[in-house]
Amino acid sequence: MFHYHTAGESHGKQLTAIVTGMPTGVSLLAEHINRDLKRRQGGYGRGGRMKIESDEVEITAGVRAGKTLGSPISLTVRNRDWENWQTIMSPDPGAITDKGVVTRPRPGHADLAGGIKYRHRDLRNVLERASARETAARVAVGGVAKQLLSAFGISIYSCVIQLGSVRACEETISASLENSFDDQPLRCPDPEAQQRMMEAVDEARAKGDTLGGLIQIVATGLPVGLGTYVQWHERLDARLAAAMMSVPAIKGVEIGPAFENATLLGSRVHDEIFYDTGKSQFYRQQNRAGGLEGGITNGELLVIRAAMKPLSTLRQALRSVDIHTKEPFEASRQRTDTCAVPAAGVVGETMVAIVLAQAMREKFGGDSLEEMREHYHAYMDYVQGM
Ligand SMILES: Cc1cc2nc3c(=O)[nH]c(=O)nc-3n(C[C@H](O)[C@H](O)[C@H](O)COP(=O)(O)O)c2cc1C
Repeated sequence: MFHYHTAGESHGKQLTAIVTGMPTGVSLLAEHINRDLKRRQGGYGRGGRMKIESDEVEITAGVRAGKTLGSPISLTVRNRDWENWQTIMSPDPGAITDKGVVTRPRPGHADLAGGIKYRHRDLRNVLERASARETAARVAVGGVAKQLLSAFGISIYSCVIQLGSVRACEETISASLENSFDDQPLRCPDPEAQQRMMEAVDEARAKGDTLGGLIQIVATGLPVGLGTYVQWHERLDARLAAAMMSVPAIKGVEIGPAFENATLLGSRVHDEIFYDTGKSQFYRQQNRAGGLEGGITNGELLVIRAAMKPLSTLRQALRSVDIHTKEPFEASRQRTDTCAVPAAGVVGETMVAIVLAQAMREKFGGDSLEEMREHYHAYMDYVQGM
C-alpha cells in the first residue's frame, strides 16, 4: 500500500523521500511536483530563506518515460545553501561541530525537549530535523499522491480562512470551495478580509512578532466508502486528523464545522438524506458532516479545517535558559518569517492527498492503474445500481 518516509536535515545536502505502493502506469513528471513545491514557498509574510530555497524535485527512481514502474519512487529536493553549510553539516567525521553550535533553546520549538530526549548538547542536532523544512519532502510525496488521485477525478484545494483575529466571511468561503486562490497573496477567498490580514501581517512584522491562522482543505470527487468504522485506527476521520496534526505548528483540526456543530441542536446539524431518482443517487442538502460519517467518506465534499499557531521564532525577544550555563537569555532572531499560514495550507493539501491515496489503494488495490480502475468502475457501477 501507499507508504513513504522522508530523510534530510534543514541545512543538509538534500531532502529525500521514498514512496512505495504506487501502481504502475500513473503519469508522473517533476513538473507535477514542482508546482506545489513553489506554492509551499509562497504567501505574504514569508522572509528571505524562501528566496534561497526555490525548491525543485529530482525523480531518481521508480519512474520511466513519465510513468510509474510499480517500484519504490525516490524523490530528492536539494538544499540550495548546502555550500554554506557543508563543513558544519557534513556526515564525515571531519565536520566542524564547534561552529554554529546552539545551546539556547527557542520557546515553541522542539529544541529543549528534543535535546533532553536525545542527549544532544548541541541543539542544532534537534532543530535541523525538527524544522518545517522537512515538509518540502512531504509536499513532493503529496505530488505523487495527487497524481494517483487525479486519475480518479479527485482534486484537493486549500485556502486561508483566518489570519490572526481576521476572519474571512463564511459566504465567501462556502461560495468557492473548489479554488485554491493561487493568484492571491494570502490565498484567501475574501478580498476585503485578505486586505485586513495583510495589514495584520505588516503590523506584526513591524513589532517583530508573528501570526497564526486557520486553513481549510477541500477534496472533491471522492467515492462513498473510503475508510471504515470497524477499527478505531482505520476511521478515515482519525487518520486525516492525525495526518494534519503531524504538520509542524498545526495544533487543532476539525472535520466540517465541528466546533460550531457542537454549539447547535442536532436537528440543525445532521445532514438529512434524500434520493434523486433521475440521477439514481442519494444526496444531502447540506454538508455539516464535512464528507465523513462513521469514519467513512459519504460521497459529499471532504472539508477539513486546521489551526496553525503563530510561528515560534520571533524578532521580539522571548525568555529562555542556556542549557550549558543555565543563565537566562532572551531568544530573538534578526531575520524570520512573520506568517506561514498559506504555506501550511499547501502542506495540509499534501497530508490529505497522502491519506486519501492510501485509502484509495486499500479499497481498490491493483498492481497497475488499469487494474485499479477496473475495480473502481465495478464498485461505482454497484453504487450507481443500488
Ligand atoms: C510550512 C511551515 C513553515 C514554517 N516556518 C516556520 C518559521 O519560519 N519559523 C518558525 O518559528 N516556525 C515555523 N514553522 C513551525 C515550526 O516548524 C514548528 O512550530 C516547530 O517545529 C515546533 O513544532 P510544533 O509547533 O508542532 O510543536 C513552520 C511550519 C510550517 C508548516
